Amino acid sequence: METLFVKSALGKTTEKPVWMMRQAGRYLPEYRELRSRFPDFLSFVRDADAAAEATLQPTNHFDIDAAILFSDILVTLPYMGFDLRFESGKGPMIANPFRSAKEISQLKNVYLDRDLIYTKNALQKVRRKLSEEKSLLGFVGGPLTIASYAIEGGTSKTLQQTKTLFYQDPEAYSALLSHIAKITGEYLVKQAEWGADALVIMDSWAGNLSLRDYQQMAKPFTEIVIQKVRENSNAPIIHYANGAAHLISAFANLSVNVIGVDHRSELSDLLTAYPQKIFQGNLDQALLFARPEIICARTQEILELTKNRPHIMNLGHGILPETPIAGVQAFVKTVRGI
Ligand code: CP3
Repeated sequence: METLFVKSALGKTTEKPVWMMRQAGRYLPEYRELRSRFPDFLSFVRDADAAAEATLQPTNHFDIDAAILFSDILVTLPYMGFDLRFESGKGPMIANPFRSAKEISQLKNVYLDRDLIYTKNALQKVRRKLSEEKSLLGFVGGPLTIASYAIEGGTSKTLQQTKTLFYQDPEAYSALLSHIAKITGEYLVKQAEWGADALVIMDSWAGNLSLRDYQQMAKPFTEIVIQKVRENSNAPIIHYANGAAHLISAFANLSVNVIGVDHRSELSDLLTAYPQKIFQGNLDQALLFARPEIICARTQEILELTKNRPHIMNLGHGILPETPIAGVQAFVKTVRGI
């Protein structure tokens, strides 16, 4: 059965599906309870029962159209040889970042059926419990975004080291990105095989690049991922980048079904400039802290702008940890027309 979500992503309906980036998270009391059973984030993600439960929590709590696998964009890095830790309050940290050509020979291959068996188990558990009308989303990071963690050793606002490696040693940069792209493409195909109905590529930090650098530093590697999926699966692909309004022209000729945009993009301009494209998102995640009538009015504006075309309703970026449940309800109910 084709779900509303998949139909919308394929451009077959103007009815609007809704989900939220980072919808399993600390704003949900049931998530905080589950999270407290694990000493660290990676052991939580690697426990297939817990990951399946976290994946299902938002769909049990709200009338939304999709569950997204509870995992992270960085889960393949440890098997490539990176010492990844999530320290509370600090986010992801890598103790042995990739800084030069010397490290190329140390990159390891990932054996997905063995190393990521917990993803397979979690997806299959979710698929058994998730209603047929809802979609299960698999996801990966864009190669540039994953590589930025491997190179910087953590989250970077400037991508300083990543750009330095690209400018000073393009061959080493390209070797790392090619390695990540190959594994990322294979991992996304596996997620489709294991039960994901639609696939998201989250190239969150691509917006840090100029259009010119994006074309060389990121796009060719994202295309490797997309091509691998297209060769092996019919699942629709959503591409997301944060703060990337200046890159939409480059995303528009990626072979993806949906382009995710954050709140900085002027949606009405995009809809005019790209009459054939399907977009996702655009509602400012901070808006969910406002009074329900304001959330309702802003959500209505997006529904009105897109009333004659497909659009996937979502926030511009991940839901913030202190978001009030009532704000989420106001958003979802407005999409549902209640
Ligand atoms: O509900 C969902 O969306 C599914 C789960 C999910 C997580 N991370 C869980 C998570 C998804 C889809 C991601 C993607 C992800 N991870 C992205 C791309 C999307 C985006 O937000 O731009 C990025 C850039 C990461 C990298 C990452 N992981 C960061 C920067 C952090 C720390 C910041 C934070 O939100 O705490 C993480 C850790 C992380 N990933 C947590 C969760 C629930 C928090 C870990 C904890 O409980 O300590």
